[in-house]
Amino acid sequence: MRTLQDDECGKLGEVGIAPITINMLADLRTALTQAHVVVVRLLDNLELFTEVTQLIATMGFKVPVVCRVERRNLSLTVQAMQEGALHVVAADDYSVKAWGSVTKALATKQLADATQVNKPKSAVFVDPASQHLLALAQRVAQTDVTALLVGPTGSGKEVLARVLHESSTRAKQPFVALNCAALPENLIEDLLFGHEKGAFTGALKEHKGLFEQAQGGTIFLDEIGEMPMSLQTKLLRVLQERTLTRLGGQSPIALNVRVVAATNKDLRLAMQTREFREDLYFRISTFRLSLLPLADRPGDILPLVAQMLVTHGHAGMAYNLDEQAQSLLLSYPWPGNVRELDNVVQRAVVLCVDGLITANQLLFDDYHNDTAGHHMFSEAVIPAGVSAQAPVQPPAFATAMPVAPVQATIPVDLQDAMKHSEHQVIAAALHSTDSRMAAAKLLGISPRTLRYKLAQLRERGASLAGASL
Ligand SMILES: Nc1ncnc2c1ncn2[C@@H]1O[C@H](COP(=O)(O)OP(=O)(O)OP(=O)(O)O)[C@@H](O)[C@H]1O
Ligand SMILES: [Mg+2]
Repeated sequence: MRTLQDDECGKLGEVGIAPITINMLADLRTALTQAHVVVVRLLDNLELFTEVTQLIATMGFKVPVVCRVERRNLSLTVQAMQEGALHVVAADDYSVKAWGSVTKALATKQLADATQVNKPKSAVFVDPASQHLLALAQRVAQTDVTALLVGPTGSGKEVLARVLHESSTRAKQPFVALNCAALPENLIEDLLFGHEKGAFTGALKEHKGLFEQAQGGTIFLDEIGEMPMSLQTKLLRVLQERTLTRLGGQSPIALNVRVVAATNKDLRLAMQTREFREDLYFRISTFRLSLLPLADRPGDILPLVAQMLVTHGHAGMAYNLDEQAQSLLLSYPWPGNVRELDNVVQRAVVLCVDGLITANQLLFDDYHNDTAGHHMFSEAVIPAGVSAQAPVQPPAFATAMPVAPVQATIPVDLQDAMKHSEHQVIAAALHSTDSRMAAAKLLGISPRTLRYKLAQLRERGASLAGASL
């Protein structure tokens, strides 16, 4: 692989790009945790582009790829765009203009990601604490009160927001999410409240904001603690009056939108330091739902793994975890919560060839500096067999593995946990849809498979509350 020369790095630096140069494809794994975009130099085919995009997908990242191609090689340029390159830049072009278009394309993509209306996913609530939370959320869902979801990073706030939406009478209406931390202030305002044609230079046509797009449904304001003060004031007005006026507009538009907000910030502290408006806090926190850290609800861990293996595993492969792997998953402190578990499962799927996942294949995120993680996992090593792919310094996924066997805190039988989880997922799908056909579609299985699974559940004496078996 040809790497960037010093003068090329310098030129990219001048247009505001800080490149991390890598020598081997394997090094991309580490770089991906920091990179906003991957730039590849293509010589006369798409091979490198394909390898890079596949690696990015395998690691579960969504980092876009920009290609540098010889000016005269028009067909390669076209091919790269067709295959999903974010942008193609002439290999000898270091102009601010060319790289400015890259940054612009990147911003547009981030905007699309930040406001993405994701497909619903099945959620796992098996631990008694989670079942309690789910029951509470389902009750709250029946009302229109504004809910504030609090919990550490990766604990499932967005998942819970979807549960609130899907368990409500608004389930068939839009669910629109906005991450308030991902965007600059003026953009959030325009995105949330929209504008009229001619409201500002460049406002060539009217634009409906996300509140209007969510009419009849739910708007999810993620990371609300990051919302700038001036917007907090506008949001408060919208919540109080249940109307909004588009930028440059005259008449207020009536809103019928349920607001769910989330934060992992201590909003009380933010109020004390005057970063968050007290009146807005009381308005949005009519009902607070708190998500526990994953380590405090160990009953969720193996069912989550079971579900993640279905999502990330290879079709047709039956997965299992050996005893040591189960113990390890149950005793790890999970500083990155469910998101970290998801990463660990994705890596295990890549490393596991025969379907039996062993402790060696569990690569945890890098939390060397985290005292909780450090306490239990003080001996960090890269498991044999992985080191070949991983750069030595720093480790590939910043791998932390205990050498000594770890005691399981709660013994759970994986088969039971998986069945329990499947039962729960099926019950939830039947509950939130009108027909078995729709439930099967939601579950991503055929109606025939659903029928078979229901028959199996019946045989085991399971009853699905509210659902006809
Ligand atoms: N109960 C659950 N069932 C299934 N998957 C879950 C559950 N909770 C979280 N996840 C998965 O874990 C990941 C993180 O969840 P989510 O994005 O909801 O967390 P979050 O609390 O919003 O995180 P952040 O604070 O970083 O925004 C996602 O991939 C999500 O699908
Ligand atoms: Mg979130």
